[in-house]
Amino acid sequence: MTQHVDNADTAVERIHTPGVATPPVSRRWRRPAMIVFAVAAIAYVAYKLPPYLGLDPNEAPIPTDSPAHYAVLVGHVFAGSIALLTAVLQLWPWLRRKHPAVHRFTGRVYLVAGALPAAVLAVSAYPQVPGAGRVAVVVAGTLWSVTAVLGWIAARRKRYAEHRRWMVYSFAIMWGYGVWVFVFANAFYYVVGLDEATSMEAARWGGWISNLVIAHWWMERTAGRTIIGTPRRSRKRRETVESAPDVR
Ligand code: HEM
Repeated sequence: MTQHVDNADTAVERIHTPGVATPPVSRRWRRPAMIVFAVAAIAYVAYKLPPYLGLDPNEAPIPTDSPAHYAVLVGHVFAGSIALLTAVLQLWPWLRRKHPAVHRFTGRVYLVAGALPAAVLAVSAYPQVPGAGRVAVVVAGTLWSVTAVLGWIAARRKRYAEHRRWMVYSFAIMWGYGVWVFVFANAFYYVVGLDEATSMEAARWGGWISNLVIAHWWMERTAGRTIIGTPRRSRKRRETVESAPDVR
């Protein structure tokens, strides 16, 4: 059985599931994937953040009905931008390997200045958020912050495999809500031709749930098994590992 508590270096390369072999994650796609993540995050923030930098409610693309609502929105956008950009750094294997102290620091920034305040402010905006998909906002915001906290707790306990899993879930929810809602809502409305309320409802649920399912599938697959079984290439190795003595 693989050890449940692993060291940081091993955890960078492998994702552990008790009793299951853990093949190294393919490196071929890493660089292009990182570039896509970085470019998308920077482009999204560069497009969304500027109207809020002047702290002028009249410049906000979405209407606010009170100074308090505007303050919540600005706080959410600032913290969301920090979360999106620091998440790119957290996913960067080179940074984790070569500069673990920087990874730890930006991880704390992601949690304390990004995910937690952005999620709390998004959920607290519930009374002001227009009707369609409001419940999805509360569910996504809650899960976004809870997964980030669980990831941080796991890291503190040196349970790096769990840490990685929770953080990937947290990033997936954030991307799914923060970025895909914007893309999905426009696609449903302008391309598919759904009405505005249905587009928003579908995007607010579908964006983060689909991302979370993909993230979970990917975590399971790279842990040596898929949600529907064990990939052929890792089956033999898994049998070998499972028949080996328990080293815990
Ligand atoms: C689970 C994650 C998220 C949830 C639940 C969420 C929720 C919300 C909600 C409810 C609003 C509307 C607030 C209102 O009407 O007063 C909003 C607006 C906004 N959010 Fe998020 N958000 C999330 C993540 C992010 C992230 C990561 C960013 C990154 C920058 C972001 C950027 C924005 C922006 C820019 C707006 C203002 C709308 C606009 O200018 O187009 N959000 N968000």
